[in-house]
Amino acid sequence: MALDPTAIPALAAEYASRDPREILAIAIREYAPDLAISFSGAEDVVLVDMAAKIGGRFRVFSLDTGRLHPETYQFLERVRGHYGIEIEAFFPQPDAVQKLVREKGLFSFYQDGHKECCGIRKVEPLVRALRPLAAWVTGQRRDQSPGTRAEVPVVQLDPTFGSEERPLVKFNPIANWTSKQVWAYIREHGVPYNALHDRGFVSIGCEPCTRPVNPGQHEREGRWWWEEETMKECGLHAGNVQK
Ligand code: ADX
Ligand code: SF4
Repeated sequence: MALDPTAIPALAAEYASRDPREILAIAIREYAPDLAISFSGAEDVVLVDMAAKIGGRFRVFSLDTGRLHPETYQFLERVRGHYGIEIEAFFPQPDAVQKLVREKGLFSFYQDGHKECCGIRKVEPLVRALRPLAAWVTGQRRDQSPGTRAEVPVVQLDPTFGSEERPLVKFNPIANWTSKQVWAYIREHGVPYNALHDRGFVSIGCEPCTRPVNPGQHEREGRWWWEEETMKECGLHAGNVQK
């Protein structure tokens, strides 16, 4: 099947405050097997749990930047075993990483911003991950980043990686959930979670670019903390940033 691209905005409006499971069920029904969950190894594990319960042929991929925490690698492995699923790893192009590291060292992002490294380690692999797909599913939520994600719809035509000739549908089923709802789901359903969450980490990305936050601090303050609020998108969801 597949939805008529022109019908996506109306669907987004209709499902804006529906349960994430209903949105995910539509995604799987309409796009499986050309649909994948983009799993970061953080609390977006709820999407894997929901999809496993819905059933159907969905794929799961993870962008292995080479700079993830050991706990995240262990967690990815745990999720793979727990759900009996394949997690397709996408690695950056070795030549590009080698060039960057030889020319600028391992921590250039602290000096000249995260865009270049994220471009090589996350965005280019994402382009490859998305190539065979008709739709992808992310764990983006509006409450994650008031600066860039306040308008994230539950489903959209991907403004960054899709095109008119090759439309790509992007589902964000938990866009309208708060962090509290995600954690209530994780506890209620006994969903495995990344051990870093018990040590003050809320939003989790690469190890050098993620730190724990104090109670009361916004979760995004734990990511790329040396940069401006409005810059805190790594390119995976660049369409969120108003140009
Ligand atoms: S990021 O753009 O700032 O890194 P964030 O960590 O908030 O993203 O995660 C939002 C969503 O982007 C995740 O729920 C997931 O769908 C996708 N995502 C982020 N990082 C990865 C990754 N390493 N691999 C796969 N998907 C990812
Ligand atoms: Fe590189 Fe940091 Fe981006 Fe990871 S989050 S790809 S280490 S700049």
